[in-house]
Amino acid sequence: MTQTDTTPCAASGVTRVLLPDDAATMALGRALAPLLRAGDAVLLRGDLGAGKTTLARALLRCLCDDPAMEVPSPSYTLVQTYDAPGEGGQEMEVSHFDLWRLDGPGALAELGWDDACEGIVLVEWPERLGELTPPGARYVDLEVRADGGRDAFLRGWGAQAEAVARSVEGDTKQAGEQA
Ligand SMILES: Nc1ncnc2c1ncn2[C@@H]1O[C@H](COP(=O)(O)OP(=O)(O)OP(=O)(O)O)[C@@H](O)[C@H]1O
Ligand SMILES: [Mg+2]
Repeated sequence: MTQTDTTPCAASGVTRVLLPDDAATMALGRALAPLLRAGDAVLLRGDLGAGKTTLARALLRCLCDDPAMEVPSPSYTLVQTYDAPGEGGQEMEVSHFDLWRLDGPGALAELGWDDACEGIVLVEWPERLGELTPPGARYVDLEVRADGGRDAFLRGWGAQAEAVARSVEGDTKQAGEQA
């Protein structure tokens, strides 16, 4: 398999995106952001250090239209919220959760989960959501590759997933050629 291969699998609805470095992870975040609307949940799965926060940071900066926006990891606060311009010029809340240290489902309610779901939620360690996992959520699974890069597997992103994968891998290849 070459470095630029995408492995779309229409039957299972999974699209693989090769991310050789963190710039590619950020490019994926920027490519996914325009697909999101209020009410969407993006569940970011992957081991410690897989790149979940890196992806969320790029998504948030794009959603908030601020490429330099400070996006701290919510690993201690568990949630950070941002105001983004939504459809029709109305403000929309985007919430970035890291549930690694979540202390039971009651604690999620205290973090304002229900209200957050009216905007966009980005969730690291979504396994902790249990029964509160939103139906129809969009998944990005990140896996560390033997060469140090990452593979991303997109699930639930619909027909646009393949176009996203091709554009990210095209940008990555171009950046590699220019380097
Ligand atoms: N595609 C990539 N290739 C190589 N390194 C990457 C890639 N994407 C992100 N990284 C790097 O991986 C490291 C960990 O990233 P990050 O903090 O986003 O992981 P995480 O999944 O949020 O970790 P945690 O589980 O601790 O929250 C960072 O140094 C980041 O730059
Ligand atoms: Mg993280």
